[in-house]
Amino acid sequence: MQHTHAAAAPSLRLLLQLAVASALAAGALADGPPGFTVTGRVYCDNCRAGFETNVSHSIKGATVQMECRHFETQEVKHRAEAAANEWGWYKMEVGGEHEAEICEVALVRSPEAECAEIERFRDRSRVPLTRNNGIKQDGFRYANPIAFFRKDPPPACGDIAPTTSTTTTPRTEINSF
Ligand SMILES: *[C@@H]1O[C@H](CO)[C@@H](O)[C@H](O)[C@H]1NC(C)=O
Repeated sequence: MQHTHAAAAPSLRLLLQLAVASALAAGALADGPPGFTVTGRVYCDNCRAGFETNVSHSIKGATVQMECRHFETQEVKHRAEAAANEWGWYKMEVGGEHEAEICEVALVRSPEAECAEIERFRDRSRVPLTRNNGIKQDGFRYANPIAFFRKDPPPACGDIAPTTSTTTTPRTEINSF
């Protein structure tokens, strides 16, 4: 018994340290450190519908880029790139505060030759990256899903239904484009 106690003591201390460390991290997050985590999803709009359907699918490995431009000078202040995971989700860290900028995530590359078309103006999602708007909030931002278009829609497109993406995809109202 004595022996087990002695062995357990260091791991207990480690657990305590971890607990304190994560509490500190959570506290830092709540206080709003500079920086944001932006996530979103990339899918293939097989039917060129302009929205997600029951025949669209996520694009694994799609590349997206975030650009923040000063809203007056248009100068690019920040750039970040990310690739979508197996489920089409990407995640990127964007440091700093971007109150005076317009930040948009846009499509860059699709690994699917069949679904790689980029349609101008429909290839992006705006994400507000500021905390200076009077709302106390964390650094997480969801971008609306963005899609590559398939050039030749398959016959199944005559029979599509919009997916209820509002229930499966967290969205913010302000960044619809
Ligand atoms: C998509 O929805 C339509 C209309 O409800 C249905 O007829 C079709 O079979 C569905 N397709 C797939 C692939 O689930």
